[in-house]
This record gives sequence, structure tokens and C-alpha cells, in this order.
Amino acid sequence: MNCETMLEISRRPSGVEGAKILKNDFFCKKNHFSKFLRPLEDFPYFIQALWRKDISKPSFKRTFKKKSAKSRNFARQMLIIKTKCLKNMSQKIVAGNWKMNKTAPEALLLAKEMAQQTLPSDVTVILATPALYLQNIRQVLGDKKGLYAAAQNCHHESRGAFTGEISAEMIQSVDVQYVIIGHSERREYFKENNAMIAKKVDLLLAKEMKPIFCCGEALPIREKGKHVKYVSNQIKEGLFHLGHADIKKVIIAYEPIWAIGTGLTATPEQAQDMHLELRKVIRKKYGNEIADNIRILYGGSCNASNAKTLFAQPDIDGGLIGGASLKAADFCTIINSF
Ligand code: PGA
Repeated sequence: MNCETMLEISRRPSGVEGAKILKNDFFCKKNHFSKFLRPLEDFPYFIQALWRKDISKPSFKRTFKKKSAKSRNFARQMLIIKTKCLKNMSQKIVAGNWKMNKTAPEALLLAKEMAQQTLPSDVTVILATPALYLQNIRQVLGDKKGLYAAAQNCHHESRGAFTGEISAEMIQSVDVQYVIIGHSERREYFKENNAMIAKKVDLLLAKEMKPIFCCGEALPIREKGKHVKYVSNQIKEGLFHLGHADIKKVIIAYEPIWAIGTGLTATPEQAQDMHLELRKVIRKKYGNEIADNIRILYGGSCNASNAKTLFAQPDIDGGLIGGASLKAADFCTIINSF
């Protein structure tokens, strides 16, 4: 197969054929597509380098310049295809954050409604319910594939005299794996800082649980143009002590504070720009594989009408949804917005 055929295949709208090409890159042993596709090694070096995003090497830049316009264009197309393929193949996540809403009967009803839905297989759905109901809700969800309960917080110490608080271990003991940490409401009203959130990350990972790490800037920070630096710093201080194996287990939720509960959503472009920047920060520290695969969710007035355009952005892997997660119908529309 020559480059032109490969490009032709990957132009097809489903992205499925593109995904087959991508499989070659992964040298998947069980790869039955290998009959149709040649290994990446068979393609010119500059295509391989581009595919692997190895473009910083000076030799690549020299080679690239010497190529014909047609070849260069092909190479650029490959990059776009790769981004799309990665997104098509990866698991998306939609988490509902119920905050301090709903009585026990209302909460159980909503959990039951969600458990009755047919959910898309490529979306992981998470319900972050008030802690008081977690055990019952966990039972309602049972073993339904792709639907999980989460806590909205845990304490940064493992146990002890912290009246009213809930530990990672307690959450784990009712068979709940996901925990939101560092939500801006916790940071603001309960004075949680990056160091405390870093401790929570460690406690959760030590128990093989999955942190949903929230970050985001307030309006004055954005107005001063300091938002990228500010949020990158939250990520650095909260997560960058982790090794490669652990950072992979973290889900990041970017939630601009000015968009939370205000009806003011970040535009898809603002959200995409920020997600791209955060991925860059992660790429610099942990490399391409981790940066491309870490899940970054958007949160802040995401709803049934705007989810589609937000989720269509290449670096947005799903959403953390507050108000719009409180009604099954709205939440399901969001879940089906990919
Ligand atoms: P919102 O909340 O969707 O109501 O803006 C999002 C969140 O706080 O997680």
C-alpha cells in the first residue's frame, strides 16, 4: 500500500480505517489488519517521525524541508488523522457532580433511572453523589458496565480525629473507586490548597482508587491573561510528584471557576486552547504517550445544548457536569454527545 492509498483510507468519515493504521504503530500482536496495512517502518522516515511526533529532531526538520509540497501535505494530514484516531479509540468520560442536592429518595430515583439507560460503550459514566447515599447508590448501580459511583471529596489524612470528614479508605470500603478532589468549591469555601490535594491524590492511588483532579482559574486571573500559568501550576503542585505509572490513573477536570454554575460556558475554542496547553505541560514532564492518553474533562455550565460542540474539540475527553446532571434526560443527552 502506498501513501496515497493510506491517506485515501484514512479520509473516510468513520475514522475506523484510520484507527487500523494507528494499530500498526502500536505493533499490536493480534493485529488482523496487518494483512492490509504495512508496518509503519515501511513508510518514509519523515512520515514515521511525524506519526510518532518525533518532530523536534533536527534531522526531521531538514528532511521535511526537502520534501515536495504533496508529501508535506500528506504528512500534515497524517498528524490530523492520528489525533482523530486517538480520540475515536479512547474512552470518554462523563461525570455528574450532584453537589449538595437531593434527598435520599430523590437520589436513589435518579440513580435507578441512570441504571436503566442503555449507555454508549465508549463512554464511562460516573455519578458523584452525596457521600451519605454512596453505599445505597453503589448497590443500585450494581455491576452495570460503564456506570460508576464517585465521592465528591475525601480528607487529606488517612484517618483520625477529623469530625465530620470522610476518608479514602471509607469510600473504598463501600466499593466506590472514583473520588473528585480539588473542586474549586472545596478550594474556595474549605480553603483546600494544592499541597492538601496532592496528599489526597496519594491516599487514593495507594488504595488503587481513581482521583478526578479538578483545576481551573477565577475570572480575574483569566482577565490578566495568567490562566495557563495558574492552572499549570495547580497541576504541577497537585500531580507532578507522581511517577509515570501513577499519573496515568488520574483524570483531570479543567473547570474555569467563572463558568461553574453561572451559565457562562467557556467557548469551545477557549476550552480547547486550555486543554491543549495542559496537555503540553503534561507532555513536557511525562512524554507523548501519557500526554496523549490522559483524560482531560471540561466542566463549567456544560449542558445538553452545548456538550456536542465542546466534546468535538480534539483535546476534550468528556465533561464534569454539575447542574445538568441532576435530571436523567439532560444528563443522558450529554452522555450521548460524542
Ligand atoms: P456546573 O458545575 O455544570 O453546574 O457549572 C460543574 C462543576 O462544578 O463540576
